[in-house]
Amino acid sequence: MKHILVTGATGQIGSELVPALRERYGCAQVIAAGHKTKPQPGLAESGTYTTLDVTQIESIEAVVKQYQIDTIFHLAALLSAKAEEKPQLAWKVNMTGLYNVLEVSRKNECAVFFPSSIGAFGPDTPRDNTPQDTLQHPNTMYGVCKVSGELLCNYYYTRFGVDTRGVRYPGLISYDTLPGGGTTDYAVEIFYRAIKEKKYNCFLKQGTYLDMMYMPDAVRAAIQLMETDASRLKHRNAFNITAMSFAPEELAASIQKFIPDFFMQYTVDPVRQAIADSWPCHMDDRAAREEWGWEPRYNLESMTQDMIDRLTVKLNSGRL
Ligand code: SER
Repeated sequence: MKHILVTGATGQIGSELVPALRERYGCAQVIAAGHKTKPQPGLAESGTYTTLDVTQIESIEAVVKQYQIDTIFHLAALLSAKAEEKPQLAWKVNMTGLYNVLEVSRKNECAVFFPSSIGAFGPDTPRDNTPQDTLQHPNTMYGVCKVSGELLCNYYYTRFGVDTRGVRYPGLISYDTLPGGGTTDYAVEIFYRAIKEKKYNCFLKQGTYLDMMYMPDAVRAAIQLMETDASRLKHRNAFNITAMSFAPEELAASIQKFIPDFFMQYTVDPVRQAIADSWPCHMDDRAAREEWGWEPRYNLESMTQDMIDRLTVKLNSGRL
């Protein structure tokens, strides 16, 4: 990886992956590309920031050629609940966008990182110890795009030799940029409300177990997978990875250890509850552990502590 492009750079993952890549590979080597969202000051100041519409193939190709890109972290996508609201737009951004990135990569010999998700599974997938290779019949537009994306990335590798790699992320928890329109977003929103108002109204019901991960682990996973010697990889794309599994009431209890008067109530959103009910509780991530040494560093307690510490600093500095 010498010249890297990150699409969706202003999003929840991108806003933390770009600084991590710039620290490791040099600021000048990492081009951050967003679309409509205004870039965070740090993103635009620490290196090149450009505007890119992934549904326009020429727009991607122009950036790849201009900066001699050899690796693309393709993060631009609509999340699950947003994709259910706007399925046609989701297909265009999530699928046409990925197809365009793969085509440009085929022609310009770029490696591609594609984040799949727990959303690539569906109601008939085993929910506990979800195997690496199993039934995938998602019933959401987000899931249809993710499973198609996994297959398309595998196809571009076997058919054209494009160096595609990827993971299935669980719900991601972070303090820098809020996710937008996801089903696992409650696990991020809860911290903001707990710190500011000491109460939160959760849109998923008690007992809804989902795989989750703290962003530093998610960023490290993407970089580590892309740096792994290709000869070690049997799967390449869509590696199950997880760090913790909890239900909303367990996250609330973990927060209460630090904020004892925090109070949670529930108003279930049927759309997001149905999505969550079709996703795994706990994925088996042994393939990632064996093939490229995946190992999470944060569990529920250490993540909760770090989130509260960092958001408190943000609040005190008036940025929350
Ligand atoms: N976090 C995503 C969502 O909730 C799943 O990958 O949509």
